[in-house]
Amino acid sequence: MDVILLAGGKGTRLHPLTQDIPKPMVPVVNRPWLHHLAEVIEALPVSGIRCAVHYRWEAIRDMYRSWFKGHIPVKLVLEREALGTGGAIRNAAAGIADTFMVLNADVVPGMDLRDLIRFHKENKADCTIALTRVEDPSAYGVVELSSESRIMRFVEKPAPDEAPSNLINAGVYVMEPNVLDYIPGDRPVSVEREIFPELIRRGLRVYGFTSGFYWNDIGTRNGYLTTHWDILDGRMPVRLPDAQYLHDPGENIRICHKAHVEPGVRLIGPVFIGEGCTIRSGATIGPRVVLGPHVRVGRGSIIRDSVIWAGAQIGSNAFMEECIVGFNTVIEDSRKAKAELIRGRCAWESATRPVTASS
Ligand code: GDD
Ligand code: MG
Repeated sequence: MDVILLAGGKGTRLHPLTQDIPKPMVPVVNRPWLHHLAEVIEALPVSGIRCAVHYRWEAIRDMYRSWFKGHIPVKLVLEREALGTGGAIRNAAAGIADTFMVLNADVVPGMDLRDLIRFHKENKADCTIALTRVEDPSAYGVVELSSESRIMRFVEKPAPDEAPSNLINAGVYVMEPNVLDYIPGDRPVSVEREIFPELIRRGLRVYGFTSGFYWNDIGTRNGYLTTHWDILDGRMPVRLPDAQYLHDPGENIRICHKAHVEPGVRLIGPVFIGEGCTIRSGATIGPRVVLGPHVRVGRGSIIRDSVIWAGAQIGSNAFMEECIVGFNTVIEDSRKAKAELIRGRCAWESATRPVTASS
C-alpha cells in the first residue's frame, strides 16, 4: 500500500518559526516531526511513501537524503504551485491503482493504522476518514455521523454554533483510487471544502473511523507544546533521542549525552535535556520543558511549559513560559516572555543544520 503525506502547507500558525523550515520538519522532542511520522508509517505493510511538498521543500529533500538507509523508499512529489490538499492528493497519487492512505503531515496519529485499514475494507468504503473528538471543533473539519458510521455531512471550519458535532477530521484517510476521479486536475482543490462534500453528495461510501485513539496537531503553538508533554508522559509512543533518566524514572527527568547541568539547578519533570546543553546554577527548568541540543541557559533563568530548539541561548534571569524558541535564537538577560513564538536571526544553513558543538 502507498501512503501520501501532505507536507506542502505554509505552517502560518507557527510563523515565524516556519519561515526557515516547513511545519513537518519542526523538531518534536529533538527530532524532525517527519522522522517520527515516517517511523509510525513504517510499522505498516507499506510499499512506499509519497511526500507531497511545496513550501520550503528543500529542507524535506535534505532530510530524506540522510534518512534513506534502512528505511522504506520516500518519493518527493513537488508542486511548483500549491495545489491545495485535494490537488496534492490527486497529483501525488498518479499511477496508484490500489487502496492508499493519506495523512496530513502535521497530525500526531495515535490510532492503530491497521485497524483503520481493516475498518475501511470491512465497510467496502470508497473513503474512510479517521475521526477524533475535541471540545471546540470550529478550527477543524467536522462531520455528522450515522449510527452505521457513515459520514452524512462534512463541514470544514464551521462557525462555533454551526458545527454538526464535536467529531472532527483527524487528517488521516484511506481511499480507493476511484475517489481521484472526483478531484479536478486543472486548479487548486481543497479535499475538505470541496471533495469530501462532493463524494457524500454523490452517494459514495464515505465512512468515519473512531476508536478513542490519541491525537494531536503540531501546527499550532498549543498543539505543538501539548504533543511534547504527551510524548514525555508516554501517551504517544515515538522513538526519542538517547537519554538517561536522572535519579528516578518516576520524576521524568531525562538528560542526553554531554549535557552539563551545574549544581544548584532545579529540574522539575517532565523535562528532556538535549545533548551538549549547558544549564547554569540557579536556573529552574520545568515542569514541561524540552531543550534542544546545545542549548545554553544562564544563571537564575526560569523556563517552564516551553520547547527550546537547538543552539538557542537563554541569558540569565530570563523567564519563559509556554514559549517556543527557534534554532540558535539568542534571548537577552532578564527577558520575560509568555506564550510567544520567538525566532532570532536565523540563516537557512543554521536552521537546517543546528549547531553541533557548543561554543
Ligand atoms: N502538498 C500540499 N499542497 N500540502 C498541503 C497544501 C498544498 O497546497 N495545503 C496544505 N497542505 C498540507 C499541510 O502541510 C498540512 O500537513 C495538511 O496539508 C493540512 O493543512 P493545514 O493547513 O494544516 O490544515 P488545518 O490544520 O487547518 O486543517 C486540516 O487538518 C485538520 C486536522 O488537524 C483539515 O484537514 C481539517 O479538516 C482537519 O480537521
Ligand atoms: Mg494542520
